[in-house]
Amino acid sequence: MESPFEVLRLDADADEEEIEQAYRERVKQAHPDQGGSIEEFQTVRTAYERIKAGYSPNGKSASAEGASAGNGTRAQDRASGQDRAGAKNEARDTAESEPDDRAEWATSEVTYLNYDVLSDFGWETDDRNLFRKASAADLDEDDFGQFVADPGQSLLEAAEDHGFAWPFACRGGACANCAIMIRDGELSMPSSHVLSAEMMEQGIRLSCNGVPITRELEIIYNVKHMPELEDLLLPPDPFENAYS
Ligand code: FES
Repeated sequence: MESPFEVLRLDADADEEEIEQAYRERVKQAHPDQGGSIEEFQTVRTAYERIKAGYSPNGKSASAEGASAGNGTRAQDRASGQDRAGAKNEARDTAESEPDDRAEWATSEVTYLNYDVLSDFGWETDDRNLFRKASAADLDEDDFGQFVADPGQSLLEAAEDHGFAWPFACRGGACANCAIMIRDGELSMPSSHVLSAEMMEQGIRLSCNGVPITRELEIIYNVKHMPELEDLLLPPDPFENAYS
């Protein structure tokens, strides 16, 4: 079995910058929408997460406690007394100790935040502490929380299965009504969609045909209100009526 450093094609003495660069390259190559596969993509993600959690090329991983004290990742930041975040970290620790157990990846845990609340609090989409702030803000369940997406299920379908009425129109890749912004994790989408390369680079994805391919996702939904997406919106009524 390849070590995390081998998966990322890194030398054992690679520094932080080299690790980040190698990850960005490998994650693009491995993406199922770019000729890779879900399995390869997840292997690359796991390798990166294990390195960030303290994996050492000499064969020893830092303990979850040590990693938590040392690297300050977003998920670990959110662990400050929040039950949901605590459960998430526990799941992550388990997955890190068993990185090759495919069952750990069978579902994706989605942490969502409603774009509409950002302006209420003066938050920005690129704030690295955004989800920690949201976790501490005692938001309504419609605006912030977590749910689990089943394998192969689109993000929109998963949200609806949990009782949420996220926006949509065509449900076919032809508008931006269902757009979400990815903060962590990834979705796989068909190539036929309306989003530009710049929007994709920004992390914008479509929830109606985007399928989670990482075991964890942090997303902002309802981003159809972003000015750059305005021209891609469709009137939702005919579609909502047809769907209902
Ligand atoms: Fe139109 Fe998703 S609802 S692309």
